[in-house]
Amino acid sequence: MAAKPKPGKKLWSGRFAEPVSELVKRYTASVRFDRRLASHDIRASLAHARMLRAVRILTAADLKAIERGLSRISREIEEGRFRWSLAAEDVHVNIERRLIALVGEAGKRLHTARSRNDQVATDLRLWLREAIDEIGGLLRKVQRGLLDQAEKHAATVMPGFTHLQVAQPVTFGHHLLAYFEMLERDRSRLADCRRRVNCLPLGAAALAGTSFPIDRARVARELGFDAVSENSLDAVSDRDFAIEFCACAALAMIHLSRFSEELILWSNPRFGFVALPDRFCTGSSIMPQKKNPDVPELARGKTGRVAGDLVALLTVMKGQALAYNKDNQEDKEPLFDAADTLRDTLAVFAELIAGIEVNAAAMQAAAKEGFATATDFADYLVRKGLAFRDAHEAVARAVRFAEKSGMGLEDLPLEAMRRFSSQVEKDVYRVLTPEGSVASRSHLGGTAPVQVRAAIKRARKSLRAGPLA
Ligand code: ARG
Repeated sequence: MAAKPKPGKKLWSGRFAEPVSELVKRYTASVRFDRRLASHDIRASLAHARMLRAVRILTAADLKAIERGLSRISREIEEGRFRWSLAAEDVHVNIERRLIALVGEAGKRLHTARSRNDQVATDLRLWLREAIDEIGGLLRKVQRGLLDQAEKHAATVMPGFTHLQVAQPVTFGHHLLAYFEMLERDRSRLADCRRRVNCLPLGAAALAGTSFPIDRARVARELGFDAVSENSLDAVSDRDFAIEFCACAALAMIHLSRFSEELILWSNPRFGFVALPDRFCTGSSIMPQKKNPDVPELARGKTGRVAGDLVALLTVMKGQALAYNKDNQEDKEPLFDAADTLRDTLAVFAELIAGIEVNAAAMQAAAKEGFATATDFADYLVRKGLAFRDAHEAVARAVRFAEKSGMGLEDLPLEAMRRFSSQVEKDVYRVLTPEGSVASRSHLGGTAPVQVRAAIKRARKSLRAGPLA
């Protein structure tokens, strides 16, 4: 009979002449943040144990004891009764120690044919797969919110901007659908990333594989992995999947950040295009008139964190020789942070978007300012036979004149227009309204209300295919 491990003693302490210093214990421990992998660690251990039984490395009695022990640990953790210990370093050792305390010998056999290196890689992939599925669902929820608003405002005109200067009229629905497209790409990127996440590293053991006759396909099946890693060295050291996820998350955050920036501008009374629900804003402790768009501002700010998480992970990996190095323990906090931040931001946006109140009159008034239909005027002259460059020149002079007279293009009398081009006729006024302008841009991808409605239909169909389809 082997000796019971002494409490507080390291699993590997047999090799060392003096105990690890307290400071180093604290420095190297990860249990503070990796305990959130506990349920995945237990799931993976159960699958591993059942496989070990199937290949006759464990007895039926061993397996029973392990199952009983792990299910009790599971309950202890759920109920907050589990005693996490810093001395036990990480989630894996904490659980294994407790298992040995609960079931004895059988618990000590669980670690046959595996290492913490393939164990942690497996746990992390299980955890991330779940996070991706949740985030996929939330992305879809935000997209639905965008579609609902776009449907209401398929024909609401507003100024479209380039260089943040009024450019041409667009419909608000069309503008919102631009964000739908960004999130659609985010979903497809996540689905692609998930395929590479969902590959089983367990069986690689420390780095070289194991001398036991393991059945990796069986473990993969039980844990819902679509593939088994092909190379043991790569399996324990690869963190591409985490980096890919952080890249997806950073990009999704950047999309939400750009939308945030617009909400901040639009809710400013100088624009007055939208009002954000009060429950998403805060006041000022000194300026009684203030209603601050805190939520979009924070989303914009948090985007920096997630971009930072990506850079952190890239940097953790860049100098590592094969195979596992302790550097890899630094993968968790950025990964968790990126997933948490994106998840929370999406959840908040799903609600925020539904609550946006649109001031269609203010949008329309703004679309009439800034000579937004000048291009329509030039296109009109082209249809009357002018070369585009000449038309551009004629309209530019008309704009200068109108500006000096404090008028919009549509306010200029016909005789005044004719001074810039003799081709102008009464029908010009139709193209000078924002409504006429947007209606004329009627092709796939254009801003015309009919096109917006058709795009919404296609978008709804794509959402019906599933959260990550
Ligand atoms: N806590 C470690 C991590 O997160 C688990 C793997 C430890 N492996 C080792 N050889 N020290 O990476």
